[in-house]
Amino acid sequence: MAESRPEYPTPGDVGQILISSEAIQARVGELGRQITDDLVGEVPLLVGILKGSALFTADLMRSIRGPVEIDFMAVSSYGDATRSSGVVRIVKDLDAPVAGRHVILVEDIVDSGLTMTYLLEHLSGQGPASVRSCALLVRETGDAPPPAVDYVGFEIPPAFVIGYGLDVAQRYRNLPYIAVYTGPT
Ligand code: IMP
Repeated sequence: MAESRPEYPTPGDVGQILISSEAIQARVGELGRQITDDLVGEVPLLVGILKGSALFTADLMRSIRGPVEIDFMAVSSYGDATRSSGVVRIVKDLDAPVAGRHVILVEDIVDSGLTMTYLLEHLSGQGPASVRSCALLVRETGDAPPPAVDYVGFEIPPAFVIGYGLDVAQRYRNLPYIAVYTGPT
């Protein structure tokens, strides 16, 4: 007899699906082609920011036609659960130096842009050949414009979202789509 398991996602947690799995995959394919074309003859180094961009970074790497390398950093920002403060602490640094490399910083979502601004400065200071930025999502806040992002997957309205790597309290990263979180905060 099949064991009963709690319903997943928990009823009430997942609101409107903003971006379907199919739309994500199509857009990631386009970004991969763009990066391939922009860096012909080079070996880009994708730097994914854990944990939110893990799925996106893996799919983006698969969509690049040519040699490409991957590395990860983990950061924690001093903020509350849903808002970063811009003061970023590096919890896991890169495995190899980026000097002379064509680096593409890969973020899950740019909200205030503080995390990305900090990391771009951090990487630029290490003598890379170039640094580009890529974000699956950019949230339209209506506040000060976020940093210019070279490769943007989607612009989304101001709502907290989950899925495709993005979490709330470490959950829902495995949803294949991006949806508005409507559960308890
Ligand atoms: P920023 O520094 O304000 O741009 O915040 C960026 C970081 O905050 C992202 O890398 C995420 O880890 C987190 N974040 C911001 N908005 C969301 C969201 O809607 N869902 C999940 N994580 C988010």
